[in-house]
Amino acid sequence: MKKIDVAIVGASGYTGLELLKILINHPVFNITYVANSTGGISVSELHPSLDSVLDMDIKKVDAKELASVAQLAFLALPHKTSMSFAKELLALDVKVVDLSADYRLKLETYEEYYCPHEDKENLKFAAYGLAEFYEDQIKNTKLVANPGCYPTATLLGLLPFVPYMKKDTNIFIDAKSGLSGAGKKLSDTTTFVNISENTFAYNPFKHRHAPEIKEKVLELTDIDAKINFVPSLLPVIRGMLVSIYITLDEVCDAKQILKEFYKDDEFVRVKDNPVNIKDTSGTHFCDLYVEQNGDAVFISSSIDNLLRGASSAAVVNANLMCGLEQSIGISKIAYVP
Ligand SMILES: NC(=O)c1ccc[n+]([C@@H]2O[C@H](COP(=O)([O-])OP(=O)(O)OC[C@H]3O[C@@H](n4cnc5c(N)ncnc54)[C@H](OP(=O)(O)O)[C@@H]3O)[C@@H](O)[C@H]2O)c1
Repeated sequence: MKKIDVAIVGASGYTGLELLKILINHPVFNITYVANSTGGISVSELHPSLDSVLDMDIKKVDAKELASVAQLAFLALPHKTSMSFAKELLALDVKVVDLSADYRLKLETYEEYYCPHEDKENLKFAAYGLAEFYEDQIKNTKLVANPGCYPTATLLGLLPFVPYMKKDTNIFIDAKSGLSGAGKKLSDTTTFVNISENTFAYNPFKHRHAPEIKEKVLELTDIDAKINFVPSLLPVIRGMLVSIYITLDEVCDAKQILKEFYKDDEFVRVKDNPVNIKDTSGTHFCDLYVEQNGDAVFISSSIDNLLRGASSAAVVNANLMCGLEQSIGISKIAYVP
């Protein structure tokens, strides 16, 4: 099969490194351009784990240079920074998979929770990159907004039950993430001394991923759900475990609903026992478990925040955008033990 040349911008970050690792082994995508904010360093100097694996220089990002050597770009950049490059790249006819929040939300929601939008034109055409729900849109776009990690784990667990929920009841989402979810930049919260042997909630009910979850539930089900989202940090490097609590309108078999909903989905596993973060670590799987007590339902969802929550989802989306099978180059083998 003819190779497709791709670029990674933000290759010095955590999701950028994961993209490098996936794309090095991808049978169709060929890495031709790797960049960060400064350049002037090689991949193996930046990521010693890739010494003797990928011999390339990291460039200071330049959209025109990128467009001259790649047909598709992965932007593993902070929000705001991303949209300035995406805009330029799309004008140069480069397909874009953006890992930031810049194209995930409606304009009003984005500007309320982030900052003024600088690429309103392309925002209208972006597809939301949750392939289980938006496959056709992803296949037919030049710009994919990769979902946030918390929304990915939450939406996959919650959406099958939204039509069965009691109207106007609160949905509680208790979401725990490994520390790599915060990116490589250190803060007081993420120092070893603060997080080691410790765990705590942050931004309860105020996290920016809550409006993303709410907006997608509304878009896909027409239900204005009462989302109460509380994220916590776990003293682990990668992994995400989300607990969702809902009330059903009438008693029905929650496990049967979940199994039926995902019976044809390759990367969602409905499990008979409570899920854990180890079994999805290193993979694109989302593992789901459900338990009920009459009309009260507990849904547990596990993903690898750096892969299903970011980089493997980005490659699945790029596969679909390029007319490939979604599973090409995507790992199903977990980092266990
Ligand atoms: N971490 C996760 O689990 C996760 C999950 C889902 C989505 N995301 C999203 O994915 C994006 C990347 O996340 P991350 O965790 O990989 O972040 P990160 O570890 O902080 O890395 C950020 C990357 O962006 C580069 N960068 C920053 N400003 C730049 C500029 N002006 N020009 C070029 N490169 C620039 C940095 O390069 P330098 O080294 O030169 O600064 C670095 O490579 C973020 O939008 C994040 O919200 C992350």
